[in-house]
Amino acid sequence: MTQPTNQPIRFYHRNAIQEVSGASTTRTVLQYLREDARCTGTKEGCAEGDCGACTVVIGEPDGAGGVAFKAVNACVQFLPTLDGRALFTVEDLRQPDGTLHPVQQALVDCHGSQCGFCTPGFAMSMFSLYEKHGHATTCATPCEKTRPSRQEISDALTGNLCRCTGYRPIIEAAERMFDRAPLAPVNVPALARTLDGIRRDDTFHYEHAGRQFDAPRTAEALATIKDANPNVRILAGSTDIGLWVTKQLRDLGDIVYVGQIEAFRHIETTDEWIEIGAGVTVERAYSELVKTYPELEETRLRFASLPIRNAGTLGGNVANGSPIGDSMPGLIALNARVVLQSVAGTREMALEDLYIAYQKKDMAENEFVAAIRVPTRTGRRANLKFRAYKLSKRFDSDISAVYAAFTFIADGETIREPRLAYGGMAATPKRAAHAEGVLADAHWHEATVQAAMIALGKDYAPLTDMRASSDYRLDTAKSLLYRFWLETRPHDPLDKSKLDVRAIELVEAK
Ligand SMILES: Cc1cc2nc3c(=O)[nH]c(=O)nc-3n(C[C@H](O)[C@H](O)[C@H](O)COP(=O)(O)OP(=O)(O)OC[C@H]3O[C@@H](n4cnc5c(N)ncnc54)[C@H](O)[C@@H]3O)c2cc1C
Ligand code: FES
Ligand code: FES
Repeated sequence: MTQPTNQPIRFYHRNAIQEVSGASTTRTVLQYLREDARCTGTKEGCAEGDCGACTVVIGEPDGAGGVAFKAVNACVQFLPTLDGRALFTVEDLRQPDGTLHPVQQALVDCHGSQCGFCTPGFAMSMFSLYEKHGHATTCATPCEKTRPSRQEISDALTGNLCRCTGYRPIIEAAERMFDRAPLAPVNVPALARTLDGIRRDDTFHYEHAGRQFDAPRTAEALATIKDANPNVRILAGSTDIGLWVTKQLRDLGDIVYVGQIEAFRHIETTDEWIEIGAGVTVERAYSELVKTYPELEETRLRFASLPIRNAGTLGGNVANGSPIGDSMPGLIALNARVVLQSVAGTREMALEDLYIAYQKKDMAENEFVAAIRVPTRTGRRANLKFRAYKLSKRFDSDISAVYAAFTFIADGETIREPRLAYGGMAATPKRAAHAEGVLADAHWHEATVQAAMIALGKDYAPLTDMRASSDYRLDTAKSLLYRFWLETRPHDPLDKSKLDVRAIELVEAK
């Protein structure tokens, strides 16, 4: 086999195409900005995707001749992943004549900055919102419909922490930035043409100090690379892996990056499935899933922060398979399947069967996750009852202590095919077989639910850690099942006389 040529990393930054060689394969975008490009406006706070001081905006071809912009955390993104993309930082906001960008001017007007450390990150999250709603600024008459709602503004800023100004003036600035004289948004057609000029048709190959970084464009090319070198580390959104480097100082070895595989970015809905490619971001995946399962909207909003959801992928969440990951319980309760691929072709299995033990999956060395298939809500599933609940110490941007997802098909008042899946309760995301046994084909009645709550004690023996104690986990696992009952019971949910919480204690005491 011929040795691939080492290619420079090419990306658009500061109005020019940058070509970079000689940087480590895991050099972060933040390190590059601050130490190599000397663009020190972007700050480092936590180096683990939590504080937002390092927020930058990435532009990439949207597949329809345009450019999609998204805010991400530069501290956990590796430089070679920028190949073929555009990078915008706080240095790009001020106009050549010195005029402040409306984002910056609004922050000044609303007193949205004190020490200023967090401000570049906030400014870039706001810039991303400004670009998304940029057309609103060019309307002759400001149009409320095209402006972001207060909820959308809050969501866009969940990944940015400020320790001195407080959030009210910043949120106000994000509302008022649209009031200022409109600034032509980024010239998207010109940028799209520039990015097209640095687009690669084949695998991008980069190497440094004996470490290789490959970005294939097809799943077949990925399969070949993984087959030739099973130890190669698959990199997707880098929101788990980035921390292995910045916090654990791990050497990742050779890397194969899946972010340029077009086939991994598809979302396709058939009569049977919503099929989500492994490379679809968490934000896109959930935005699509909530159309069929609006019960997942809270999970979408509370899964990390927007910059993490913009980078992290559903495939990465599923492949990592953390027992406290947020996607697995919901997907398992919904009876989702996972499609695995290798040089031998594809195979699929129920998602719950992927997880064998802590950090152990039913996946061969040369296999990878290609897609996730979530059943649609048609036929008998039109009567599907579904809820998903996340418990964490903070509302936003926090990992779950317990995550619970429940489904069953309502056959009149009879429970059919119950599926109760929990995260944070065992070494893997896991169904509650005993409790499901109690519910199956039973009447959807409070007594049935209480019996199932008791059975949960046989299903799980959760551990105590910094997030929660074992007792807390088991108690809340039961309470969440009770809440599911309260929210889906066939009686009038407002009839408080039917709500007898003490009955739970009585049944448990027996
Ligand atoms: C600040 C912060 C907050 C977070 N909050 C949450 C949260 O609220 N809920 C939650 O669930 N998670 C959270 N996470 C974790 C992380 O964002 C998710 O697990 C995310 O979905 C990982 O996806 P990724 O694309 O970034 O994966 P990566 O980091 O790129 O990879 C993760 C793992 O998956 C493997 N992998 C990736 N893609 C594939 C594939 N196609 N086939 C096989 N293996 C693959 C990688 O080799 C690696 O082992 C948080 C992370 C951070 C930094
Ligand atoms: S430095 Fe805190 S999110 Fe990147
Ligand atoms: S202005 Fe000081 S941290 Fe936000």
